[in-house]
Amino acid sequence: MIRTMAEPVAHSNPRADFPVRVVGLVKNFERLKVLKGISLDFPRGKTTVILGPSGCGKSVLLKHLVGLERPDRGSVWYENQRVDTLSEERLAPVRREFGFLFQNGALFDSMSVEDNVAFPLRELEASTPTSAYEHAERVIRVLRMVGLEEAAQKMPSELSGGQRKRIALARAIVLRPKVVLYDEPTTGLDPIRSDVINELIIKMKSALGATSIVVTHDLVSAFRVADHLVMMHEGEIMLEGPPEIFRDSTDPVVSRFLRGEASEDELRAIRDASRHDGNRSQAPRDSTRPSTPHSTR
Ligand SMILES: Nc1ncnc2c1ncn2[C@@H]1O[C@H](COP(=O)(O)OP(=O)(O)O)[C@@H](O)[C@H]1O
Ligand SMILES: [Mg+2]
Repeated sequence: MIRTMAEPVAHSNPRADFPVRVVGLVKNFERLKVLKGISLDFPRGKTTVILGPSGCGKSVLLKHLVGLERPDRGSVWYENQRVDTLSEERLAPVRREFGFLFQNGALFDSMSVEDNVAFPLRELEASTPTSAYEHAERVIRVLRMVGLEEAAQKMPSELSGGQRKRIALARAIVLRPKVVLYDEPTTGLDPIRSDVINELIIKMKSALGATSIVVTHDLVSAFRVADHLVMMHEGEIMLEGPPEIFRDSTDPVVSRFLRGEASEDELRAIRDASRHDGNRSQAPRDSTRPSTPHSTR
């Protein structure tokens, strides 16, 4: 068999296959322990989904990847460069390689869709001047990618929640990022609009060849887009691997979460109950059925 030139180079450094890595990440806010030693390698060109109940530390983890939070212990790496110790100034070029769809993906309400999407290009203008023509071209190209080319002249207030997310996504990718971070991309959307976003996540991966990292508590979305799945619980990784292994897991927390038997509120109630039970004696509980006074299910 004849080998291509590229192969031995690509395989000589195993880390080259993981552009983004975190090692032993620990983060506390005062007495709240949020990340308890997270180590993860994110495979190149694939979609990694971090699944877990709300409050388990997903957004905090994502922010560490681009230096919006700094770890108490551990390290964050991008293409073999340590980023958690970089100054804001040295971080800027690293951040440019990332597109970030924030949880609340806020658009600037006073700007048209087109100006919102062009915003990162204008910010960059000072360091790498580009022509107005090229700006317009790139804005239209990303709007076309999210299927909203015709909305260019609209104001954000004229759009639905799902459309706003798609515009925020267009803005996140306008600088052609190597890595795209999605924080709860489908939260608050109905199933049909969620599925449009899922489709876009899959499409972005192939169109940009980007490494994608999605954090979500939406199971349907997770299984739809993930090449690699990570389940996080209370600041720790519970299980990690191809999506298939999650379906076969016998771990009670994993299987309850996946069967949708425990809502987030219930998981919280279970955690709180076991903490309190450890501290003081209480009226006896039915241990098979956690009390869930605030559950919405
Ligand atoms: N800047 C902060 N200061 C204090 N507490 C924070 C801060 N950011 C997040 N937290 C807390 O850390 C925990 C994890 O938050 P987060 O990562 O946002 O959860 P989620 O998994 O829902 O994204 C929560 O209890 C949250 O209140
Ligand atoms: Mg979050």
